Amino acid sequence: MPPLLERLGVELPVIQAGMGGGVSRHELAAAVSEAGGLGTIAVNGAEAIRRELAAARALTGRPVAVNVLLPFARRDWFEAAAEADVVVTFWGEPRRRTGGVWLHQCGSVEEARRAQAAGADGVVVQGVEAGGHVRGTTPALQLLEEVRAALPADYPLLLAGGIAGRDDVRAALEAGADAAVAGTRFLLSEESRAHPVYKERLLEADATILTVLFGAGWPAPHRVVPNAATRHWGDPPRLNRVLNHLLVPGVRYAPAGLQLRMIQAQRPGSRLLSPAGPTDDGPETLIDAGALYAGETVARIAEVRPAAELVQDLNP
Ligand SMILES: Cc1cc2nc3c(=O)[nH]c(=O)nc-3n(C[C@H](O)[C@H](O)[C@H](O)COP(=O)(O)O)c2cc1C
Repeated sequence: MPPLLERLGVELPVIQAGMGGGVSRHELAAAVSEAGGLGTIAVNGAEAIRRELAAARALTGRPVAVNVLLPFARRDWFEAAAEADVVVTFWGEPRRRTGGVWLHQCGSVEEARRAQAAGADGVVVQGVEAGGHVRGTTPALQLLEEVRAALPADYPLLLAGGIAGRDDVRAALEAGADAAVAGTRFLLSEESRAHPVYKERLLEADATILTVLFGAGWPAPHRVVPNAATRHWGDPPRLNRVLNHLLVPGVRYAPAGLQLRMIQAQRPGSRLLSPAGPTDDGPETLIDAGALYAGETVARIAEVRPAAELVQDLNP
């Protein structure tokens, strides 16, 4: 067992990616951790982080991680996240914000170097095949090799992107990763809070696209399964992209109630489409007007399973 995971008391080199907007909450994170992997909570706001972490602690005595998206995080989010066993950050200048174990997800060698220099205890190397917000532009195993060569030999590296089964985890470990991180595979678990129709769409899907369509407040490439919105807009027009950039401060710092109303009003033909994904307690309209985040592995996933079984299936 790699020293970092051993130090944490995580038995298996299987990590569930934080999936934002509340797709991965306490039910999923606790089930993964209880099965011997490392589960990750991803919710917005200090209060929600505290609530979900407490609920996960009630279900498992094993380590649990919290994911924080740097563009949105405020100081009190980090105070709440610091109570987790691991904090995983993404999308922004890597900087130590909490005292405990800190991992940063990176999409390039340069970013991995910056995270290590900033004191990260390890990095998650994200390949371009990953689902959700995609930082990587290189296939995961190739980027892993490049990062391995650039950083000290014993520096902890985790690999995200392309992980859906035991063989993928084995390949990642053989290529020098300390553990493998899976998002889409765990999205298609019973415990994930993705909307049931979103899960059905993913089970039916055999391909994904990278798009900047869902960039209101967060202009970033996302890997998604096509839906009515992506078919309506195709390659997003320049005006959509410009508006997305202009609205960054407005959308990001708007009160939660206003953000929710904007998301509820979103339709496939809306010019401004937020990055909110469809959850089982959110507006159903997001199934065709929101981002159906999924990685390339979606083509290989045929059923929704309990998270504990998935951890065993991924155990190399
Ligand atoms: C639905 C979904 C939401 C995601 N949200 C986040 C997030 O909030 N924070 C984060 O660091 N990564 C997020 N990711 C990316 C994952 O951390 C990881 O890179 C990705 O899931 C790996 O690829 P895979 O989905 O093919 O396993 C998300 C991925 C998915 C599928």
